[in-house]
Amino acid sequence: MQAQIEIDRVCHTYKPARGRPVLALDNVSLAIGDREFVSLLGPSGCGKSTLLYLIGGFLPVEQGAIRVEDKTVSGPGPDRGIVFQHFALFPWKTVRQNVLYGLEKQGLPRDSREQRAQQYIEMVGLAGFEDSYPSQLSGGMKQRAAIARTLAVDPRVLLMDEPFGALDAQTRSLMQAELLRLWQASRKTVVFVTHDVQEAVYLSERIAVMSARPGHIKEIVEVAFDKNDPELQRRPAFLEMVDHVWNLVRGEAIRAERGGAAA
Ligand SMILES: Nc1ncnc2c1ncn2[C@@H]1O[C@H](COP(=O)(O)OP(=O)(O)OP(=O)(O)O)[C@@H](O)[C@H]1O
Ligand SMILES: [Mg+2]
Repeated sequence: MQAQIEIDRVCHTYKPARGRPVLALDNVSLAIGDREFVSLLGPSGCGKSTLLYLIGGFLPVEQGAIRVEDKTVSGPGPDRGIVFQHFALFPWKTVRQNVLYGLEKQGLPRDSREQRAQQYIEMVGLAGFEDSYPSQLSGGMKQRAAIARTLAVDPRVLLMDEPFGALDAQTRSLMQAELLRLWQASRKTVVFVTHDVQEAVYLSERIAVMSARPGHIKEIVEVAFDKNDPELQRRPAFLEMVDHVWNLVRGEAIRAERGGAAA
């Protein structure tokens, strides 16, 4: 496997202005192949978002190294698109203006930009809301607008931090299928953060199960299902895999609870 993203012995400590430093990640190493779909799964506070920010270049890598296509990450870049856990839309821009924002730096002619923005707005089911402001949208709609903005730029690497967490079950299932379709068609490398075991098993080729804080990779689970099987999520092998991964995560969730209680 040729690694596109190499996470090499990364530690991360938050040093807040007040209070104690927090060791969020402890010696994380992970190699992600070109066009691979990898999920990071683990209890709340185990460092999933931190790891994604480090890959995206939004936090400095202070210990260890991260390389994307053999280049050491030292800041954000157009090769890596991120969908943040808490939707980051410009409140003063409409849906269309938010989606167009990322495209403006790409030097596309105006017509193609508009066309592209519209295509992704429709893809996430926001046709008719092009001129709405974020404050006029529900949580799930804001999240879909943020997803459209990131996808429209067509980055090689897609970093998604619980992108469907705020969606209702029906929209969530539609967006999962849409993401799979897009990934199969465009073969992007996807690093997907979730704490939904079913979602991780359904979408990923590999799941990196993280331990409770300080986060490290506890186990890597390979998932080799036919994603085009419409019955997949009801098959015994799928349900067994969900159960297996659940058992791995459950122990860590309990440890996280205890750690929280002791802190
Ligand atoms: N800015 C910060 N300053 C201090 N500590 C922080 C900061 N951001 C995160 N942390 C701590 O680092 C740890 C990892 O946080 P992170 O947000 O990466 O977890 P997570 O796995 O994404 O959690 P969740 O599933 O709840 O989103 C947590 O224990 C958190 O308290
Ligand atoms: Mg998080």
